Amino acid sequence: MSKLEKNKKEIIEKIIEVVKERLEGESSGHDWWHTYRVYKNSIKIAKSEELAGDFKIDFFILEMAALLHDIADHKFGYSDDDRVSIIREILSTNGVEEVDILKVINIVNNVSFSKGNIPTDIEGKIVQDADRLDALGAIGIARTFAYGGSKGREMYVPENSDGNDSIYHFYEKLLLLKDKMNTNSGKLFATERDEFMKKFLEEFYSEWEVK
Ligand code: NI
Repeated sequence: MSKLEKNKKEIIEKIIEVVKERLEGESSGHDWWHTYRVYKNSIKIAKSEELAGDFKIDFFILEMAALLHDIADHKFGYSDDDRVSIIREILSTNGVEEVDILKVINIVNNVSFSKGNIPTDIEGKIVQDADRLDALGAIGIARTFAYGGSKGREMYVPENSDGNDSIYHFYEKLLLLKDKMNTNSGKLFATERDEFMKKFLEEFYSEWEVK
């Protein structure tokens, strides 16, 4: 490993420590372990895209953006400006150069679901895919019910649903995500998870009706 690579690895390890500390115990479904999975899935998607020969990916930028994608987010009550300065502070304290800080901030600003933006560079597209992937499959199902429970939502209201039960969330959002993925690998992994969720729903209704 070159000195530069070693330095980057140390920076990533330090960022992991800071992010872990900030997100530990977060109960909205965006805790440290969500970030951990987005980080891992970002690397998995990136490697798969590189193998397919489509892109050259900057893993340093990718990993920093994945780790910081939920730091000081709107959903925790921060403004865009707060968020940028908190991320800048974390990165500059750990010796990241200005040009890289700007790249990471640009990605993080565009990744969020709610804004509906598609990041312009490949690293951002991958982090957004990894974030969406974590809303799908077995993890997605678990997160949906955990979040619904924390908001006092019912699991399922068969008739007269006001769209507020956890099952409804599959139809308003989760089952639409596979068609929104940016990368081919993201689409592939999302499709596998989508099929799993559809099987889950079938089984859920069948057990509900005691068939
Ligand atoms: Ni996220």
